[in-house]
Amino acid sequence: MSLRSHEQLVASVGLLFLITVCITAFFFLPSSGADDYLYHQAKHAIPIRDADVREEIRRREQVELKRKVEEANINPPPIPKPEIGAGDDTHSRQIFVKQMIKFAWDGYKNYAWGENELRPITKRGHSASIFGYGKTGATIVDALDTLYIAGLKEEYQDARKWIDESLDFKKVAKGEVSVFETNIRFVGGLLSAYALTKDKMFLKKAEEIATTLLPAFNTPTGIPLALVDVESGNAKNYAWAAGGCSILSEFGSLQLEFDYLSNLTGNTVFAEKATKVRKVLTSLEKPDGLYPIYLNPKSGKWGQRDFSLGAMADSFYEYLLKQWISTGKKDNSTKREYDEAIAAMERKMLFVSPENKLTYFANLRGNRVEHKMEHLACFAGGMFALQSINEVDETAKSHYLDLGERLAETCHESYARATTGIGPEAFRFNSGSEAKTDAKPERYYILRPEVVETWFYLWRITKKEKYRDWAWDHVQNLEKYCKVGVGYSGIKDVYESTVQHDDVQQSFLFAELFKYLYLIFSEDSVLPLDQWVFNTEAHPFLIRND
Ligand SMILES: *[C@@H]1O[C@H](CO)[C@@H](O)[C@H](O)[C@H]1NC(C)=O
Ligand SMILES: *[C@@H]1O[C@H](CO)[C@@H](O)[C@H](O)[C@H]1NC(C)=O
Repeated sequence: MSLRSHEQLVASVGLLFLITVCITAFFFLPSSGADDYLYHQAKHAIPIRDADVREEIRRREQVELKRKVEEANINPPPIPKPEIGAGDDTHSRQIFVKQMIKFAWDGYKNYAWGENELRPITKRGHSASIFGYGKTGATIVDALDTLYIAGLKEEYQDARKWIDESLDFKKVAKGEVSVFETNIRFVGGLLSAYALTKDKMFLKKAEEIATTLLPAFNTPTGIPLALVDVESGNAKNYAWAAGGCSILSEFGSLQLEFDYLSNLTGNTVFAEKATKVRKVLTSLEKPDGLYPIYLNPKSGKWGQRDFSLGAMADSFYEYLLKQWISTGKKDNSTKREYDEAIAAMERKMLFVSPENKLTYFANLRGNRVEHKMEHLACFAGGMFALQSINEVDETAKSHYLDLGERLAETCHESYARATTGIGPEAFRFNSGSEAKTDAKPERYYILRPEVVETWFYLWRITKKEKYRDWAWDHVQNLEKYCKVGVGYSGIKDVYESTVQHDDVQQSFLFAELFKYLYLIFSEDSVLPLDQWVFNTEAHPFLIRND
């Protein structure tokens, strides 16, 4: 193309752009005028009807991005083609996600191999206290199934080799590890790798690691403690947890892995431990039908009456539903308990915001309602969507799909209202400010997956393009704000465009966020929801239909 015609093209694109802006403004801006709209935008939450305006801006940005990419003639790095083809646009987005996975993986491999996580800016290893202080390669185990699913074959082989040769958990784990995190990430990751590959080495490692967790279950009730010292077998609870209590999300999110492990190995000890926990929960009285987040493992009594669908509770509900699904719907008593718990939460904790009509689950502190929803609680949109496709009753089907869609919308608003387009750790519903937060300690984002997870389920179930579009927005925002140094990092304040990084590439970036992003741009035949159930770390297990 000659320079002259190139200039002409730029001029006409510019003109077209201006016309689009004018037309958009004419249709969408409030009648009181553009100034008022801008004031509104700066001072208050964007009203939800302006979702259309955002949509238009997003569309224009995409055209612009595409133009830039074409102009720069960027050649994607040579990586193997995904196994499954898709439509043109979706296909290139999927390849883009695959490149993100490879980039983050290479950073980890080159600078933190064998460590739990990578610090992408200072280029060294990182370990959170949940892992103890041994070099247990959490990122390798968490990434394993994602590498496999995305067709990153060499990377998968490197991971497999390390696990085979170096992951002797009993030897490499040091200090106290979290029973819950070790279960969902390590046991879950290895079981998933086994389910996908039928490579027995993974199953053996999963059993070895789960065995190191068993001392935590030696309590008068069988409710496990939170931490176990792998070397000595000493177990204890967090000192801060309501006077030595165990936490609902932790002891309530073991059954998928433990049952599956027992089923695959024939070693019944794991399923027995999980069943015992379920029996205790069944026998307890629930205040107003709700499950408090603290339970004393010695006395079997609830701790203080705090209730949430977010931190310290979340995956307990998820596992009630998924336990039913993963047993081919045979465990219907667990489904009944799920139904009762959700019904109680809908009565007591579900709200619609007055201004923007956003649906959200609040937290309860005793009788006091805290009008706040956590990023972690955003998984629930996906949970309700998954429930809807497993219900037979038409009323339940449509009710829970609708609830799931409304929560997906709310969580999207928490993203769209942030300067970075990335949602905060928690957001509030106060008069004049909805789905945002002013509190500094709630403004961070640590590569959490729950919002994309919900969009993934809703894409699979409704086929509404907006879910893929929202996920693609997130991909671009991750590139813009979280990609740094040799990987991806959390950011400290989603409301500041000049971001500060926390310099941690979480292992769940691979297990969850990348996996859900990859899958949302995949065909439904990749891990279909009627054959696979994802644990709370997004590790897929086969549903036991017989
Ligand atoms: C595993 O689950 C399948 C399907 O429910 C069942 O047929 C099989 O007997 C189970 N195996 C063990 C060892 O529990
Ligand atoms: C629960 O499952 C059992 C065994 O599959 C079945 O006999 C029973 O009818 C089911 N109960 C309900 C309420 O669906």
